[in-house]
Formats: sequence, C-alpha cells, structure tokens
Amino acid sequence: MKNKFYITTPIYYPSAEAHIGHAYCSTMCDILARYKRMRGVETYFLTGTDEHGEKIQKKALEKGVTPQQYVDEISAKFKHLWKAMKISNDDFIRTTDEKHIKTVQKVFSKLYENGDIYLGKYEGWYCTPCESFWTDTQVGEDHLCPDCGRPVHRDTEECYFFKTQKYLPDLLKYFDENPKFITPVARKNEMVNTFIKPGLADLSISRTTFDWGVPVLENNKHVMYVWLDALCNYISALGYGSDNDELFKKFWGEDSEIVHVVGADITRFHTIYWPMFLKGINLRMPDRVFVHGLLDLNGEKMSKSKGNVVSPLPLIDRYGVDAVRWFLAKEFSFGSDGRFTPELFAERVNMDLANNFGNLVNRTTAMISKYFEGKVPAYKNPGQKEKDIEELTRKTVQKYELLMDDLQLTEAFDAVVELLNAANKYIEESKPWELSKSGNIEQLGNVMAVLANSIITCAKLLSPALVETAPKVFVLFGLSKEQEKYEYVNKFCVYEGNVVTRGEPLFPRLDVKVETEFIQSLTA
Ligand code: MSP
Repeated sequence: MKNKFYITTPIYYPSAEAHIGHAYCSTMCDILARYKRMRGVETYFLTGTDEHGEKIQKKALEKGVTPQQYVDEISAKFKHLWKAMKISNDDFIRTTDEKHIKTVQKVFSKLYENGDIYLGKYEGWYCTPCESFWTDTQVGEDHLCPDCGRPVHRDTEECYFFKTQKYLPDLLKYFDENPKFITPVARKNEMVNTFIKPGLADLSISRTTFDWGVPVLENNKHVMYVWLDALCNYISALGYGSDNDELFKKFWGEDSEIVHVVGADITRFHTIYWPMFLKGINLRMPDRVFVHGLLDLNGEKMSKSKGNVVSPLPLIDRYGVDAVRWFLAKEFSFGSDGRFTPELFAERVNMDLANNFGNLVNRTTAMISKYFEGKVPAYKNPGQKEKDIEELTRKTVQKYELLMDDLQLTEAFDAVVELLNAANKYIEESKPWELSKSGNIEQLGNVMAVLANSIITCAKLLSPALVETAPKVFVLFGLSKEQEKYEYVNKFCVYEGNVVTRGEPLFPRLDVKVETEFIQSLTA
C-alpha cells in the first residue's frame, strides 16, 4: 500500500442542482477517503464544480444573471449538500478559481510548445448539452448524440486540435502494463473497441463561438474547450505550476496512489485524453480510474427537465445521513448501474440497519446491562462457537481490507454484513437466557464478550459509511480514545470492564408503505 492517497470525484456541472446521482459519486469517494485515513494513509480528497462552457453561459442568460453569478449560486448549493452528506473533502475546486485558470493556460502553452497542438477546422455533429462533436457513424441516421440521445446539429468551427496519435502507443502500453488502470475491466474494453480501434480522431480543445471559458493566451479569439479545462482541475487544485506546489509534489508524487472516480458517462475523457495530456506535460499517470455505474430513479434516467430527480436533503432530514449513505454504498455493487426507488430505500434501511446492525447492538447492550450490570465481562475458556465467531471476525477484517484497498467497497461492506448476520445467529444458537437461568456465568460472559468484540469491530469497519452511527456505538460500549483506534480490530476481546449503556434504537424500523409514499412525494 502506498503511503499517500489522492482521490477525486468528477467536478460537477452547475447546470442542474445537485441530486442523489451526484451524491452517489461523492459518497463513494468519501467512504474511500475516510477508510484510507482510518488506516493511517495520508489522504487528500478533492471535489468541485466545472463552471465554464456554452451551456452555463446560456443558462445564465436565460436567468438574466451573469455566468459568474449563476455558477456562484449553484456551486454554493453543491457545497451545502456535501456538508449535509458529511463529505470530508479537503478542497473544493472551481474552474473559475484564478489558480485553476493559470494552470490550464500553462498546460495549453506547454502542449503548444511541444507541437502537440495545431490550428484547424472542425466540422461535425455537435451536441450542445454535452458540448461534444461527434462523427457521422457516432450519431447514426437519426442524428442523435451517442451520450445523451438528444438531437445534434451540423457545425463547423476554427479550433485548436490536440494530436492524439502521438501519445496513443504510450497509452496502450500503459493499459497493458496496468490491468487495474481502468476498472471494472469491461470499461477498458469498451474504450478500446468503441473509441480506439475505429481510429481515434484528434481532439478539439478550443472554441470560438462563446467566451465563458479560460482564454487561450496564444490566440485571443479562442477559449478552452471544457474538457481540457475541466480535467486540469485534478492538478490545479494541488498547485501544479504555481509557486505553492507542495500539495502537488506530495500527492502527485510516485509514492501517492492517485484514484479518479468517474461516472460511466465520462470514462473516455479520463482514460484516453487525460493520460495523453499528462504525458504531454511530462507528468505521471494516475494509478486508477474507477468507473461507477449510473443511478436511475424508479427505472428512469434522472433528469431535472423530466421532473425525475430526488434530492438527498429531505431524505437526510427524515432518516439521517447514515441511512442515505448506506443505501448508496450497499444497494448495488460499486461499478454497476443501480436503481433508487422509495421501496428499495426503506427496505434496505430496515434490512441492514434496523433489523441487523441496530438490533444486534440493542440486544447485546440490553443483555450486558441485565446480566453483567452494564460491564463487558471477561473472556475466559471460550468454547468452539466463540472461537468460530472470533475467527470469522478476524477473517472479515482481512477480507474487508483487501476489498477496500481494491476499491470494491460494496463487497467490503457485504463481508461486514455477513459477520453481523453470523453474530445475530450466534445469539440464537448460544441462548444466553438459558445460560443465565442455569447459572453458567462464565460461558454467558464469553458470549457477551465475543459479541461486544464483533460489534465494535463491525462499527469500525462500517465507520467510513456510517459516520454518525459508528461513534454512537463506540460510546455505547464505553470505548476509550485508545480503544477507538483502528488497530483494535485485530485485538480480540480486550474490552473487559468497559461500561456499556443501553441507548435508543440506532435505526427505528421503517413502515415501508408509509415511507414509500413520503419519498414518492419528493420526486420532482
Ligand atoms: N463536468 C463533467 C465532469 C468533469 S470531470 C473533469 C460532468 N459533470 S456532471 O455533473 O454531468 O457529472 C459528473 C458526475 O456526476 C458523473 O460522472 C457521475 O459521477 C455523477 N452523476 C451524475 N448523475 C448521476 C447519476 N444519475 N448516477 C450516478 N452518478 C451520477 O460530466
């Protein structure tokens, strides 16, 4: 494991208000960032907003405000949402930040000096919402944008091009030598088959038909095309090319693991052009681009214009931030497409949080209060069943770490949920109430001690997702600051004498019918 970790979300377009789809990506990155910090890895977590381009300029015009006023307002809403979602980003980059603009201009100039850029004419099919040109084959007979499905129009324009062929051999070599560069691996095959094999065109990197963009210093008729501008955020935020580049040296250095998490819709830009730009300016490649799936709402693509979006804010108000974070992390595998429906949400919260984790904590704290006056008993001469739970706990920690380090966070949490299931089953099998009746106090103590141990371990492993609940569990089990340390996941049954309190249920069981109606009323 490298000793530094740099993780980024895409920078979001402030052309629409933040919805649960945006929250999905930020939450997954937040979980990974919190996990790495918990493991003692020096971590930098970046998110932000992508504020230039024709679409933003048009939106501002429609609203009768300046583009800057428009992006200021929406970018503040993104920040507000991240606070509510407990996103622990270290910085929030805006492409209108002065330091970002300077970096992009520097990158353009370097590529220009290299001879990687030339002035040409673009003719093709243009999709305004996606700000992308497409070829005849890509738009097909219906002339629809291959990304968003909306109609495209014929357009021609003088622009600067980036020569992609020069860096293609290096890129393919990097793909081959780094099988985990693009994961899930099907995404890599898609890039090769859809974009590279048919012949990769040069990329247009400037525009002349609008001016809400970073000016090209070499030619004042041009502003940067949004993708060159946007991708540079990952290095501008760290101070690349400025006098203040300590963060850059630290988190873009060889001993830093660099991970970009992106939605499936923008894989091409991150896995083909971004590595080429980096090569052009002589910087190292990211270690991984993890492509997550898209979340739909009730089976339909989320879209503000179709009135088909849901904001996480009212969900957080009613169910707490952990319920929302948990649903996003656990409902479908990170890397696959997923679905949000009110029923799935309520059922997921009930199944994992109320009935499983919450119930286990509740039962165990109640029994320790009743049988041992609220103190974790000693673990002495445990039987085979206790040893099995101990062994399963140990294996779960190992499995969880391997999966988390490989960015497979849903699967890592699956492993923890299996342990929770096993612990609940263990209560049924070991029948503490009978041990109490028959006066087998030593064995009853072992059962409670091993349960307390597994619960505390699970709370730690779940803490990157359950940011409010895990600390509550630590309090219920009277953990000292020392015992809260992550290293304790590998110490077994060391909580003897800890004072346990019975709290309120961590997650009240939801009435699925009532909650479904409530959530349904929020989709607008
Ligand atoms: N601004 C560009 C990205 C530039 S990165 C250098 C952009 N912005 S976006 O706002 O349209 O989307 C950014 C990301 O938001 C997606 O890649 C994805 O991570 C996330 N999502 C937006 N809608 C989503 C869903 N419905 N579901 C899951 N994630 C979604 O593209």
